[in-house]
Amino acid sequence: MLDGQDSYTTADGRTIGGVMMEMRNITLRFGGVVAIKDISFDIREGEIRAIIGPNGAGKSSMLNVISGFYNPQEGEVWFHGAKRPPMKPYEVARQGIARTFQNIALFEGMSVLDNIMTGRLGFMKAGLMSQALWWGKAQKEETENREAVEKIIDFLEIQNIRKTPVGRLPYGLKKRVELGRALAAEPKLLLLDEPMAGMNVEEKEDMSRFILDVNDEYGTTIALIEHDMGVVMDLSDRVVVMDYGKKIGDGTPDEVRNNQDVIDAYLGVAHD
Ligand SMILES: Nc1ncnc2c1ncn2[C@@H]1O[C@H](COP(=O)(O)OP(=O)(O)O)[C@@H](O)[C@H]1O
Ligand SMILES: [Mg+2]
Repeated sequence: MLDGQDSYTTADGRTIGGVMMEMRNITLRFGGVVAIKDISFDIREGEIRAIIGPNGAGKSSMLNVISGFYNPQEGEVWFHGAKRPPMKPYEVARQGIARTFQNIALFEGMSVLDNIMTGRLGFMKAGLMSQALWWGKAQKEETENREAVEKIIDFLEIQNIRKTPVGRLPYGLKKRVELGRALAAEPKLLLLDEPMAGMNVEEKEDMSRFILDVNDEYGTTIALIEHDMGVVMDLSDRVVVMDYGKKIGDGTPDEVRNNQDVIDAYLGVAHD
C-alpha cells in the first residue's frame, strides 16, 4: 500500500499522497563521530512522520539535514521529485520547509505577536527603500502579514497573551508560540524537534491536538521527533526508528511497536 506514488486514505479519513521528501543513503559525520549512518527513508505528502530513538541516536541531526542546517557527507536529499543540491537553511526555508528547535529559540523580550511575525520575514519583500518609494505597497504587505499572524494566534488559542513578552510565559506556551512562528512561514513541510519535551500531560494533549489540526486544516506534512511513545502511536502515520545513527525500524506505529530490534534497542532501555 505504501509503495510508489499512490495516495491512500487513513483510518481517520485523511489523504496521504505520494513521496514529498526522500532521504537516500544519508551519512553525516562530525569529525570522528558518525551521527547518521547510511539512512534512507521518505516522507509522503500529508503525512505525520515520527522519528524516534534513544538520546544521541541522530534524530536532531536528521532534522538538521532536512532543514539544510547540515549538508551530509554522503547521500542524496530528494524533494518533490528533484535532487536537492547543498543548500543554506534560508534556501530550504524558501522551498516551504519550516522547523522548531529542541531547545526553544524565541526572542524572550519580544511579544508573542512579534515573535510569530518573525516567521513572516520571508514574505516581506518591500525593503526600506521601496517602503519609502512604494509606501502603499509596503503598507498592504504589512496588513497581509498581520492578518496571517492574527489567524495563527486565533488558531493556537493564544489571543489573551498576544502582547505578552515571551520570556514571561510558561514553557508549554513558549512551545506553542514557537509552533506559531513556524506556521507563519506557511510551510508545506513542518519539522518539529521534540515539541512536547518537558510538558505535563495536559500541555502534551494540547500540543498533540494542535499538531493534528495543523495537519488536517492546513494540509501540512509533518515530521516530528518525540520521546513519548503514547504520543507517537497516537499521532503518527509512520515511524522511523534510529539507534546509534542507524535506522533499525520503519513502518506504521503497530509494525514498529512489534519490531524486536526496536523493542530491544529503544523501548526496553529508553522508557523512563
Ligand atoms: N554539531 C555537532 N558536533 C559534534 N557532534 C555532534 C553535533 N551534533 C550532534 N553531534 C553528535 O551526533 C550524535 C547524534 O546527536 P543528535 O542528532 O543530537 O541525537 P538525538 O537528537 O537523537 O539525541 C551524538 O553523538 C552527538 O553528540
Ligand atoms: Mg535531539
